[in-house]
Amino acid sequence: MGEGETRKPIEPLFEAIVAHSTDSIMLLDLEARIRFINRTAPGLTLDDVIGKPVYAFVSEDQHADMRRCFADVLATGGPGRYESVFHASPDLVTRWESRVGPIKDGDTITGFVVFASDVTARTTAAAERDRVFELSADLLCVARFDGYFARVNPAFVKTLGYSEAELLATPFIELVHPDDRAATTAVFASQVDEGRNITAFENRYVRKDGAIRLLQWTSMADQSSKRVIAVARDVTAQRALEAQLLHAQKMEAVGRLAGGIAHDFNNLIQAILGNVHFALKADPDPAMRSYLADIEAASIRASALTKQLLAFGRRSPLATAAVDLNVVIRELMQLLRRVMPGHIKIDFVAGNALAAVEADRGQLEQVLMNLCLNARDAMPSGGQIRIETENLLVDERYAETHPWARLGRWVLVTLTDTGVGMTPEVRERIFEPFFTTKAPGEGSGLGLAVAYGIVQQHGGMLDVSSELARGTTFKLYLPAALRLATTAADQREPTPSKGRMETILIAEDEQLVRDVLVRAFERAGYHVIAAANGSEAIELCREHDQIDLALLDIVMPDLSGPQVNDHLQKVRPGLPTLFASGYSDTTRLTHRVPETAIVFAKPFRIEEVLAKVRELLDQRLVRETRAGAENAKGPSGASRS
Ligand SMILES: Nc1ncnc2c1ncn2[C@@H]1O[C@H](COP(=O)(O)OP(=O)(O)OP(=O)(O)O)[C@@H](O)[C@H]1O
Ligand SMILES: [Mg+2]
Repeated sequence: MGEGETRKPIEPLFEAIVAHSTDSIMLLDLEARIRFINRTAPGLTLDDVIGKPVYAFVSEDQHADMRRCFADVLATGGPGRYESVFHASPDLVTRWESRVGPIKDGDTITGFVVFASDVTARTTAAAERDRVFELSADLLCVARFDGYFARVNPAFVKTLGYSEAELLATPFIELVHPDDRAATTAVFASQVDEGRNITAFENRYVRKDGAIRLLQWTSMADQSSKRVIAVARDVTAQRALEAQLLHAQKMEAVGRLAGGIAHDFNNLIQAILGNVHFALKADPDPAMRSYLADIEAASIRASALTKQLLAFGRRSPLATAAVDLNVVIRELMQLLRRVMPGHIKIDFVAGNALAAVEADRGQLEQVLMNLCLNARDAMPSGGQIRIETENLLVDERYAETHPWARLGRWVLVTLTDTGVGMTPEVRERIFEPFFTTKAPGEGSGLGLAVAYGIVQQHGGMLDVSSELARGTTFKLYLPAALRLATTAADQREPTPSKGRMETILIAEDEQLVRDVLVRAFERAGYHVIAAANGSEAIELCREHDQIDLALLDIVMPDLSGPQVNDHLQKVRPGLPTLFASGYSDTTRLTHRVPETAIVFAKPFRIEEVLAKVRELLDQRLVRETRAGAENAKGPSGASRS
């Protein structure tokens, strides 16, 4: 083909390209001055641009990149590329991608040709995608088919605690919890091999610090790029909340059931007891009397149990006042220090300016006591119990992870032991009534159920964290009262049950209970002599001239309460006696409790006992004064007749 034939169409072709190209096409000289441009940007005329260097139209910070590009093209004779931002007007920013080539005259480069494309739309979309990737709270990643991450977003880095570089350098399966690896591998393979899309697949990842995060995945494989694109949501907290809610609902249901049954049951037992009482009065023969006594003993035990269930089901009445927990615990500490075995240390760290709580002091003491007794049982070879109090402000962030917590001020009591701890399976169930890991006869499994019920009734919450061999922490949250705590003096027992320094003999083998009783009676104004078992009680009775009333535990290791009473009645006929029965004593059935006996089922309200004691002592006083008057009247009357 001749020369003329090939060159001729070039001009019109060039014209056509230049006219119809969507790109901006420029010819520049070696100083990057514009010699030719196919069309100017909006707002600029040809006169504005021809002869001006391209630098003149972009901000100074972009010049270096452009100069480098032109210098490279000049040095290598190959193509170059730069990106630039052009402010067409103050509100209109456009982005350009410019491809640069040399214009040659023979071997000499005389200038540059520049094809500049407006990439504003494309780069904005990409930039937005990048922002989404950066800002997403969900975990976003791209994984290669070979099992490595190609890209992870900052949320991924934050959630797993590894740096981005560490994540990219580790086969992702190594970050998965060992128990979930098989399932994860299978799901990944089904994506890679069969192109399956995954929704709602869950597995656990192990953070760098060892903590476990539960992730829920949505992902799809892209066969062309051989990559899996995946989004994971961290559902760890959500699952924990769901579990908490479920637990609360379960306890609520069990509590309502137990409370409901206990309530009706209690009435039935009252009816049984009343009728047994009448039957015993109707002068039965000895065999019948013994059957009836058994029925009575069993009914008393049933009544004690229902009391516990009522406490758990939140059906036992509260006598509340504004209480300073520091005062309550400090007093309890004196007692606990004395009764805890020597190898168990117990500390109390009282919080500053602790808010008062609206509470039934006796019931709270029972909760704390139950927790301490459990802690003691969990440390057979010694250890430490630590009780701490503090004010707690529940804000929105705290409430997010503790759904039961209302916003506002709370008082928190933390009770930590260094005992055997619990497995997760045990921890799940400890608040259930009758759940115990103790040997038959050693625990009834009601201690924590009752504590839970009492705390719930106070509008509070009892929370546990524990690990096997790592000890246990119970957290008792109570809403702060709006008023100040009544003074300690006001919190004493009401005056009608006050003692007049009468002497009370208490026989009780459980030291904790005994000390509580001694303290309560002394506080109420009685003189107390205490015995740790039946024979000691009889001994004390011999030693002391004056005893006004006896309070006897029914089950004691040597002599039972009723047996002790038989002795006492021989030496001091008519001595008023009260009995106390423990709910977990299965041996009660074998102990004969006198039919007229007054029995208090543990846990009793100490005010009730004090009131009964006062009543009995007053009755006796009236009887004695009357008898005294009769005696005085007798002779004189006789003399008159
Ligand atoms: N501090 C603790 N450390 C370890 N395990 C504990 C602790 N407190 C409670 N537990 C576990 O919870 C179970 C239930 O406790 P709970 O107080 O309700 O019943 P219990 O102590 O077995 O019997 P009781 O009715 O006599 O209190 C216990 O048997 C024990 O397994
Ligand atoms: Mg217990």
